[in-house]
Amino acid sequence: MKMFMKGLLITVLACLLALTTACGSNQSSSTSNSDGDGEKKEKLIVGTDAAFAPFEYMDKGEIVGFDMDFLDAVMKEAGYEWEPKNIGWDPLFEAVRQGKEVDMAISGITINDDREKTFDFSNPYFESTHMVMFKEGTDIQTAKDIEGLTVGVQNGTTGQAAAEKIMGDKSSNIKKFENNVVAIMALKNNDVEAVVTDNTVVNEYVKNNPEDNFKTIEDPENFESEFYGLMFPKDSELKAEFDEAIKEVIESGEYAKIYEEWFGKEPNTDHLLEQAK
Ligand code: ARG
Repeated sequence: MKMFMKGLLITVLACLLALTTACGSNQSSSTSNSDGDGEKKEKLIVGTDAAFAPFEYMDKGEIVGFDMDFLDAVMKEAGYEWEPKNIGWDPLFEAVRQGKEVDMAISGITINDDREKTFDFSNPYFESTHMVMFKEGTDIQTAKDIEGLTVGVQNGTTGQAAAEKIMGDKSSNIKKFENNVVAIMALKNNDVEAVVTDNTVVNEYVKNNPEDNFKTIEDPENFESEFYGLMFPKDSELKAEFDEAIKEVIESGEYAKIYEEWFGKEPNTDHLLEQAK
């Protein structure tokens, strides 16, 4: 009897072991499926200029924002570990071009022909346009009214280009700042009379700083629609991988979830997917 029980116990244990192993191997095969060939994940360093809320900004020593949450979802989908690196706007372009300090960039970067000469961009992940922000009492009805005023922009942005289109690209009334936060500071301090920057950033600022009592205008006739993309060094293999991952994150509904968390409304993902090349 004793022997029989022992035998049974051994059989049960052996079966359990077999089951666990079967279960274990099953699990590992599904993991290696989602990770490609199951090799150790590569870690990507992603450059940004974290002074552009709500896309990327510093909060308690951490870089946060829509771009960070969106990219995190995309990185998971593509199977990469990653880390953002706050290096500032102007240095970002040279850093991505050289591909040494950073592997790629996310920073509310507008895809345009000029930049596409030097960089590769992912398919669009966000639609944007420009807005003018100014103090109450300044007479601005349309974007054209910034002509003759002093206007603050972030240096080297499409906001600068939008202001130049109206005021002329040599206009000394366009004041170029290192980042968007100092451009807005300049408006607060009356160093400029208006700021031209991305619409979502303007709306976020006004929402968070009602005491400033800044006024804003949109102007679809003078400010074109544009799209943000991830920026890579020219001919980077990452582009194709990330286009795939972005598509999946949008189609799975994850994009909409993140978008709604940040903007409190539904995104037009069809319009976004239509832009893909
Ligand atoms: N979308 C504009 C551009 O690409 C402004 C982006 C600025 N981004 C930032 N993180 N400062 O020129």
